[in-house]
Amino acid sequence: MEFRSESVQGRSEKIGSSVSVIPRTRIQVWFISVCSSILLWTCIIQIVAVGELWHPKFITNITYKFSQITTDSHLHVSVRSRPPLLPARNYTSQGFLKVSCNGGLNQMRAAICDMVAVARLLNLTLVVPELDKTSFWADPSNFEDIFDVQHFINSLRDEVRIVRRLPKRFSRKFKFKIFEMPPVSWSNETYYLQQILPLVNKLKVLHFNKTDARLANNGLSVELQKLRCRVNFQALKFTPQIEKLGYKLVRILQDKGPYVALHLRYEMDMLAFLGCTHGCTNEEADELKRLRYAYPWWREKEIVSEERRLQGLCPLTPEEAALILQAMGFDKETQIYIAAGEIYGSERRLAALRAAFPRIVRKEMLLDQVELQQFQNHSSQMAALDFMVSVSSNTFIPTYDGNMAKVVEGHRRYLGFKRTIQLDRKRLVTLLDLHQNGTLSWNEFAVSVREAHEKRMGQPTHRMVIPDRPKEEDYFYANPQECLCEGSSCKDLLAMANSSVR
Ligand SMILES: *[C@@H]1O[C@H](CO)[C@@H](O)[C@H](O)[C@H]1NC(C)=O
Ligand SMILES: *[C@@H]1O[C@H](CO)[C@@H](O)[C@H](O)[C@H]1NC(C)=O
Ligand SMILES: *[C@@H]1O[C@H](CO)[C@@H](O)[C@H](O)[C@H]1NC(C)=O
Ligand SMILES: *[C@@H]1O[C@H](CO)[C@@H](O)[C@H](O)[C@H]1NC(C)=O
Ligand SMILES: *[C@@H]1O[C@H](CO)[C@@H](O)[C@H](O)[C@H]1NC(C)=O
Ligand SMILES: *[C@@H]1O[C@H](CO)[C@@H](O)[C@H](O)[C@H]1NC(C)=O
Ligand SMILES: *[C@@H]1O[C@H](CO)[C@@H](O)[C@H](O)[C@H]1NC(C)=O
Repeated sequence: MEFRSESVQGRSEKIGSSVSVIPRTRIQVWFISVCSSILLWTCIIQIVAVGELWHPKFITNITYKFSQITTDSHLHVSVRSRPPLLPARNYTSQGFLKVSCNGGLNQMRAAICDMVAVARLLNLTLVVPELDKTSFWADPSNFEDIFDVQHFINSLRDEVRIVRRLPKRFSRKFKFKIFEMPPVSWSNETYYLQQILPLVNKLKVLHFNKTDARLANNGLSVELQKLRCRVNFQALKFTPQIEKLGYKLVRILQDKGPYVALHLRYEMDMLAFLGCTHGCTNEEADELKRLRYAYPWWREKEIVSEERRLQGLCPLTPEEAALILQAMGFDKETQIYIAAGEIYGSERRLAALRAAFPRIVRKEMLLDQVELQQFQNHSSQMAALDFMVSVSSNTFIPTYDGNMAKVVEGHRRYLGFKRTIQLDRKRLVTLLDLHQNGTLSWNEFAVSVREAHEKRMGQPTHRMVIPDRPKEEDYFYANPQECLCEGSSCKDLLAMANSSVR
């Protein structure tokens, strides 16, 4: 202790001596040393501050987001104080926008972000979105059963006014007829400003009765793109009940080490819709076909499964997934969480995966029946749990690129390009078939599988733009690149992406 204070004094005397020539009493020496220590510390703080300026802002952002996530996961239950309210944006509302989302949880999530952006663009007042209760999943949950509605409203106050319900004067009781329509898919700002705005102005209330993919991926203003992200990453928070159980699942898994979240989209609805029957019995194939005919709005009825599979358009079967994971180098010790609902063919179809990876778990195995009961008949709430576990996983592997795969992939990019393996299914089924008929040895197969995915791990990349073919483009929510880096560091990051990809 003494040694240290002496050395500081020694140094400070040197600094002090150049400024003062007055005789030194002990007090003066002490005074000078205190002052110069302060000076020294100021210098250090300055240097640190300058260092931070050099530090790419992107990195600090990420560490910030990481720490937010980790602290969140520890503190969310005990400390749930609302942040102070932002000042509300002052604008003249041009009318009310009512929306009914369609599809599963993640499709609706993206749609909610789009609808907030549309309301902001047109200066409308948004009514809290209605969720789909009639889709295949038939989940009766309302917005407030899944998302923290007060947080949603408050955290977007500075952009758009959101109300829980339409004012009474627009109700049927007052003979008000609300005009409903689906907006044109993949539209840009021009469409909403020129076609929709005059309509709302005239009608006071407009009801969008479909919301999936109604806003273009590209060609929108950066402000609007960033707003979509802000809704997705900050304003949409699950309810405390869902968060509590989701974090519990994550903690149970993390306590046992790193884990892979496998979004095994081998569920009945998907297989029936796509007509993928590879690995199914004849009875199962018939059942899937009957289901397809039972849903009138599924347009394609006659489908040749093998053709579709060879085009890479079928989800991997559980057996295929087991081989691919092994080829990628995951071993018997790997902890795998199956993020999915009911697997078609259940345990029988999971046998190969379980044999290769004994540490496979599902939420039903990690939580007790009572805890899950409240969510049981609510597929969207179950999907919310899987969403949380998937976002937090060390590696995320979706076996099909549906909405969940895409939205989770984008979320993981935002959290610092966490590893998401984007399977090249067309390539994989060819390799699988060649391995299975003996053309490729295990080693050749494994090397080819790994090589095919080196550049498909969720690294920084440019979102692919294809003019006039929005469906084939990269989806905005899978790679919201406008929100992943800022300022000059963005250039470096994307230059890096250019040199390392393709
Ligand atoms: C909102 O803006 C209008 C017009 O710019 C102004 O008259 C009004 O006082 C503002 N209201 C608030 C609450 O700031
Ligand atoms: C929305 O309101 C802002 C002022 O708050 C105004 O500048 C802008 O032109 C308005 N846009 C539309 C589409 O009404
Ligand atoms: C949406 O509204 C349009 C126009 O009223 C109608 O034709 C269509 O069937 C509606 N769609 C849904 C899903 O309600
Ligand atoms: C918006 O979409 C329309 C119709 O698809 C197109 O003609 C127009 O060029 C687009 N505008 C912008 C700014 O991308
Ligand atoms: C869920 O629904 C099934 C059948 O619809 C019913 O038998 C079961 O009791 C329900 N479970 C809960 C927890 O509500
Ligand atoms: C294996 O399958 C490929 C294509 O599916 C075929 O070209 C090849 O001849 C087959 N090899 C054997 C040994 O059957
Ligand atoms: C990267 O490539 C894209 C097109 O592939 C191009 O538009 C962009 O300017 C490139 N960025 C840098 C920083 O080189």
